[in-house]
Amino acid sequence: MSDVQQLPVVVLISGSGSNLQALIDAASAYRIVAVISNKADAYGLRRADDAGIPTAVVDHRAFADREAFDSALMEQIDGFSPGLVVLAGFMRILTPGFVRHYAGRLLNIHPSLLPKYQGLHTHQRAIDAGDTEHGASVHFVTEELDGGPVVAQGRVPIQADDSPAELAARVLEIEHQLYPAVVTWYATGRLCWRSGQPVLDGEPLAAPVLLA
Ligand code: GAR
Repeated sequence: MSDVQQLPVVVLISGSGSNLQALIDAASAYRIVAVISNKADAYGLRRADDAGIPTAVVDHRAFADREAFDSALMEQIDGFSPGLVVLAGFMRILTPGFVRHYAGRLLNIHPSLLPKYQGLHTHQRAIDAGDTEHGASVHFVTEELDGGPVVAQGRVPIQADDSPAELAARVLEIEHQLYPAVVTWYATGRLCWRSGQPVLDGEPLAAPVLLA
């Protein structure tokens, strides 16, 4: 696929960037034009360097408040003119102004079967609740934290003796399939955002697509 047809995507990270790696490895309908981190030591920045992708750091600690950080972040992102912004382990809460600016072109991956376990420590909470399955969700970002419409989910079993780390590793394997698939749907026009809701293959999405 030529560059002209590829959707320009900016990926935001805070850490290891294993989802970023999965997105890099599957990039054909889209092109990752920049990776931006709020942490200078995020390992994902090295992954981007290795793939020849431009990187930037916007350190949240350098700003007086969320609004100032988000507006600096927006300026960086918009410098790359993306058609889609992808949060891949980006661990900052975004302001309503930021979310509105990217309405319908901002995706997040969350390590739970939303609407279950919004927020942090999802693996521990699923184990503590005695759940037998867990998973990950890709959703459009709205002003409600982890509350935007879910596009696709992948499930994994919880084993009786699972530690949160073991369960997290199992969920990550699913995430690495899920995220490139959904970003590719968006890049090829199968998935879009119309009148405040996700549309897949021309139909409003009634329920998340189950990919595993
Ligand atoms: C992933 O499990 C992702 O779902 C989660 O952080 C991890 C990042 O891993 N995101 C959140 O918890 C967002 N609230 P990675 O850096 O290896 O892709």
